[in-house]
Amino acid sequence: ASIAAVIPAAGRGRRMQSATPKQFLVVHGKTLLQHSVDAVLRDPRVEHVFIASDEQNEQAVAKSLPNISFVAGGVTRAESVLSGVLHAITQGYTHVVVHDAARPGLPAAVLSAVIDAALSGDNGAIVAMPVRDSLKRSEPDSDMISTSVSREHLWQAQTPQVFTAALLADAISEMGVEHPQLTDEASAMAYLGYHPRLVMGSLKNIKVTHPEDLELVTAILAPPGR
Ligand code: C5P
Repeated sequence: ASIAAVIPAAGRGRRMQSATPKQFLVVHGKTLLQHSVDAVLRDPRVEHVFIASDEQNEQAVAKSLPNISFVAGGVTRAESVLSGVLHAITQGYTHVVVHDAARPGLPAAVLSAVIDAALSGDNGAIVAMPVRDSLKRSEPDSDMISTSVSREHLWQAQTPQVFTAALLADAISEMGVEHPQLTDEASAMAYLGYHPRLVMGSLKNIKVTHPEDLELVTAILAPPGR
């Protein structure tokens, strides 16, 4: 297998209420994007990183290394991912590790485990966490509980999500980059009938979405000894 990472980084980050998209916010001297790039390169099997970003903001990644390329981002996250996957295929990579720019705290052991799980077949594998809170459903425009939902056997999907590059490109194209249910790569693979495996994630791998998440991620990314 030859493995490339694809990092979708073209989002506007509207929920962050910040002029700077979240992946370009700086924590401990590096952008969140740079932290995420560094994290996916911690597994030596990852040979190249394709960053999908409209900004073409090379400054966001301090070390413009030969193994990092910027490619065009898309209107949706899926379109950004597809752009990166197609570039990876063109350059001869067989597998892709898709990882959100907004998840800078990915532990190296989690990355290695999901790659191991994905390489054993065509279904691929994703990082996920069992749901720990109780789940409630409300009706639209209501704050009243209509039903409780069992959390048994329910997982929250994180990234990385690792697949055969050609299968993932087919799956995203078939499902359509505008499909409202295409919120992660596993959804596209499931659309084609594949059953990706679940690999245990980590609370450190949170996605920075709201302003308060920045405090958490600042603690998670603190250099050792502080
Ligand atoms: O918005 P959300 O939190 O789901 O974004 C997850 C990741 O997808 C972020 O890293 C964001 O930059 C990226 N994204 C993208 N292209 C878009 C929308 C989101 O690359 N059009």
